[in-house]
Amino acid sequence: MSFDAIAPHYRWLECVTSGGLLQRCRTAFLREVATAGNVLLLGEGRGRFLLALMRLNPHARITCVDASARMIDLTRRALRQQGLSGRWVRWIHADVTSGVPQSGWGEQPFDAVACHFFLDCFPLEPLQRIVAMVSLRASPGARWLISDFSVPDKGWQRIRARLILASLYAFFRLATHLPARRLVSPDLPLQQAGFVLEQRRRFSFGLLQSDVWVKGGRAAPEPPPCHGRRPESRS
Ligand SMILES: C[S@@+](CC[C@H](N)C(=O)[O-])C[C@H]1O[C@@H](n2cnc3c(N)ncnc32)[C@H](O)[C@@H]1O
Repeated sequence: MSFDAIAPHYRWLECVTSGGLLQRCRTAFLREVATAGNVLLLGEGRGRFLLALMRLNPHARITCVDASARMIDLTRRALRQQGLSGRWVRWIHADVTSGVPQSGWGEQPFDAVACHFFLDCFPLEPLQRIVAMVSLRASPGARWLISDFSVPDKGWQRIRARLILASLYAFFRLATHLPARRLVSPDLPLQQAGFVLEQRRRFSFGLLQSDVWVKGGRAAPEPPPCHGRRPESRS
């Protein structure tokens, strides 16, 4: 599996297919990590979340892990072009499922983690391993921001999501040899690893969602009794 071949095309492909929607998901809860001191970014790709984070929180130490050397090169170049110093960013070119990269993650626990459109690259077993590995390296109360695709429970929204996801997985399987064949929800592995869903916002009729999970945190409040339309932004 490698994203190297599509790395140079990733930005314009995103722009043409979804406009600013994916970036709205990535940054929906950016403020939650505005004061984080030690941040882990997994599968950061072309660095759109990283750039937004560095602008908001210029003093955070950031560890970026990605299996694509091309993605890392292009992101480092983008930082230089934007005049942002990469002084506080540690780059790790590694496959997070191999278990090896942890050695370079440093000693200090992370108080924030973010991964966007990354966990949906994996079948259940490697997904569980990644979540367990991150849990070991996250401090109590650490926030984990996750944006991903999702499949609504019912209705035309479900059919639409399944059609879109089938074509996306077919494309990424061809272009990158992605190991996942279908979307696996990370909710249960996250709960089993001690994370609690604190906030969830849905986009594009439930096709996309953006979450805040907290290690050992308080659960998201139950939505109020449903007397009218259920708010779209809560699960
Ligand atoms: C679908 S892209 C998402 C990129 C970016 N996070 C975004 O929001 O657009 C998935 C990214 O995860 C990286 N990746 C996939 N599998 C990986 C693995 N096993 N270890 C580390 N990075 C991986 C890819 O190289 C790619 O940059």
